[in-house]
Amino acid sequence: MRIVILGSGRGSNARAILQAQRAGRLGRGEVVQIFSDQPDAGILQLGAEFGVSAAHLDASPFKTKLEGEGEARYIKAIQACAPDVVVLAGFMRVIKPGFLDAFAGKIINLHPSLLPSFPGLDGIGQAWRRGAKITGCTVHHVTAEVDGGPIIDQAAVRVEAEDTLETLTAKVHAAEHALLPAVLARLSET
Ligand code: GAR
Repeated sequence: MRIVILGSGRGSNARAILQAQRAGRLGRGEVVQIFSDQPDAGILQLGAEFGVSAAHLDASPFKTKLEGEGEARYIKAIQACAPDVVVLAGFMRVIKPGFLDAFAGKIINLHPSLLPSFPGLDGIGQAWRRGAKITGCTVHHVTAEVDGGPIIDQAAVRVEAEDTLETLTAKVHAAEHALLPAVLARLSET
């Protein structure tokens, strides 16, 4: 199962996937390419560390969505990778129908809340400010509705009385690092 990862940030979830692959815990999954829309994103440093191709890919002209010329560049570059799965691991852009159609049924996203609660930006902070007692993370299929596609799996995190936003954030990230590779391993066996 050929996996392409898209990310905009530090890449801790991409790292979790690559570590799972290295440890033989990714089933038939193999990361073949990492792309980032941010030229200095930490996720790109994983390429050299894990021996995987990693590149910045210009997503302009828009800042918060993937559409127009940027979308066309992404479709062409990802099609060349012949992926079975495209993983959005902290890729902070709204995906539009052109990209969805090009990889129909193959795009999955990781979100740091128990969807359908707290979609959109800062899922952990939203749950924290609302006083949620249970939050967590979700892996779901990507559709045109932001954070609204069918759920593949979730992991719950209890918010304890002694938690701060920082400790809760660390717990949700740890849950993500376990959930996403496990989902990919399972998908690779089906
Ligand atoms: C993750 O917490 C992921 O759930 C979130 O970005 C972070 C990326 O971290 N994604 C979203 O909020 C998407 N709506 P990472 O770069 O360390 O993997």
